Amino acid sequence: MKLASRRMIAVISVAALVASACSSNATSAPSGGGGGGQTAIEVVSWWTTGGEASGFNAIIDKFNADNPTLKVTNSAIAGGAGSNAQAALQNRVLAGTPPDSFQVHMGHELLDTYVTPGYMDNLDDLYAANGWTTQFPKGVLDIVSAQDAAGTTHYYSVPLDIHRANVLWYNKTVFTANNLTAPTTWDQFFTVADALKAKGITPLAVGDNGIWANGMLLESILIGALGADGYNGLWTGKTDWAGANVTTALTTYQKVLTYVNTDHSSLSWDQAADYLIPASAGAQPKAAMTLMGDWAAGEFDNKKFADYGWIAAPGNDKIYDALADSFGLPSKATNKDGVKKFLTILGSAAGQDLFNPYKGSIPANSTAGTPPSGAKQYSTYQTWAMGEWKADAIVPSVEHGAAAAPKWKGAFEAAVTVFVATPDVATLQTSLVQACKDAGVCK
Ligand code: BGC
Repeated sequence: MKLASRRMIAVISVAALVASACSSNATSAPSGGGGGGQTAIEVVSWWTTGGEASGFNAIIDKFNADNPTLKVTNSAIAGGAGSNAQAALQNRVLAGTPPDSFQVHMGHELLDTYVTPGYMDNLDDLYAANGWTTQFPKGVLDIVSAQDAAGTTHYYSVPLDIHRANVLWYNKTVFTANNLTAPTTWDQFFTVADALKAKGITPLAVGDNGIWANGMLLESILIGALGADGYNGLWTGKTDWAGANVTTALTTYQKVLTYVNTDHSSLSWDQAADYLIPASAGAQPKAAMTLMGDWAAGEFDNKKFADYGWIAAPGNDKIYDALADSFGLPSKATNKDGVKKFLTILGSAAGQDLFNPYKGSIPANSTAGTPPSGAKQYSTYQTWAMGEWKADAIVPSVEHGAAAAPKWKGAFEAAVTVFVATPDVATLQTSLVQACKDAGVCK
C-alpha cells in the first residue's frame, strides 16, 4: 500500500478547532451503577447482530475480566450504519450527557459532528504512550486527527477496525448449479441476474429499511463508473456531478434496482444478507447475491453459513471503499480514566485481533493480524481483504461517514429515497448536483 496514494487524506480538511476541543475539563466522578464497587463505563454502539455483537462482547468481556473495578456496558442502539444511533448520540452529546464513549466513523462524521464543535477530548497521551502514531496507517491517522489554531495535530478517536463497503457476496452453490460466474462488470451482472430471474431466484437482496443500504449500492456504482480518482473528485468538487459518467452510473443504478427483492424496504441489511442462506440444506435460497460491506462476512460466519463467495462490486476491482469504526472520549464523560483504559485495549493489536475475526473487518493497527493460537482466527475473506488493503486504491465511503459532511450525506440519502420510490435519473442527478452546491463544495 502506498500511503501517498491514500485519497482519504485529501478529502478531509479541518482548518480550525474550537479551543475547548483540546481541553480536558470534565470531572471524573464515577457514574456508579456497576454494582459490587465497580465503576460503570457506558459505551454506545449500533452493534446488535451477528459478528458485530459477538466481536464487541468478546472485547468487553476481556476488559471487564482484566479490570474487576470497572464494568463496560454496551448500550447498543439497533439500526445498521448507525441509522438510529447517530441521532440519539448527537442528542446526548448536545445535551451534555454523552455516554462515556461511543462508536463513530472516522472522517467527517467524527470531525465535523464532534471534534470541530469542541465536544471531544484529545487522546494525544494515549497515542504517545501506545506508539499508535506509527502503528496506524497515515491515511487513518489523518482522519482521526485535527490541527489546532497553532498547527499542532491532536488525535480524537481510536480506530478499532477497517471495513470495506464495496463487496458483492453470492451463494456459491447457486452460481455453480447454474453455471454462473461472479460478475466483474454491471453488464455481466445483468446477464447473470437475468439467468437467475429465469430460475425464480431474486438476483440481488437489498434491505433498505435504513436507506443507507441503497445509497451504498449507488456509492459502489459511482466508484465503478468514475474510477477511484473520479469518485474522490465528487467529494472535493473536481468531478462534475452533472457529467455524463454520473448519468451513466445513475442509469445503471436504475436498472440494478429492477433486480432486487420486492420487500427490500421492510428488511434490515442483515435480513437481506440472510436471503442468501437456504432455509434448509439443499433448499434454494431466496436470493443469490447481496452488495454489502464486509460486516456481511461476520454475519455469515456467525450464522455458520460457509457457502458464500465474494468479489469486488462490479467495476470496483482494486478499489477499496473504506471506513473505520472508532471510539473517542467525550469531554463530558464521567469516568475518563476508565474510558482511556478501555480505549487502550481497543487500539491494541491484541484487542483488534480479538474483535476483528468476528466482525468481518481487518485490524486498523498495522501490528495486528495474527491472533494467538487457540483464539478465533481471521477468515479466508479477511486474509484476502488484508492483501487488498495493502494493494488497492483507497476511497472514502460516503454512507459510512468518511467522504462527506453529515449534512451532505443526508442530502445524498434524501435524493436516493426519492429515487427508490420514483426512479427518475434526471431528477436524481439534479438533486445530487444541488447537494454538492449546498455543501459548499461545488459552485
Ligand atoms: C459500521 C459497521 C456495521 C455496519 C452495519 C457500518 O456503518 O461501520 O461496523 O457493522 O454499519 O451496521
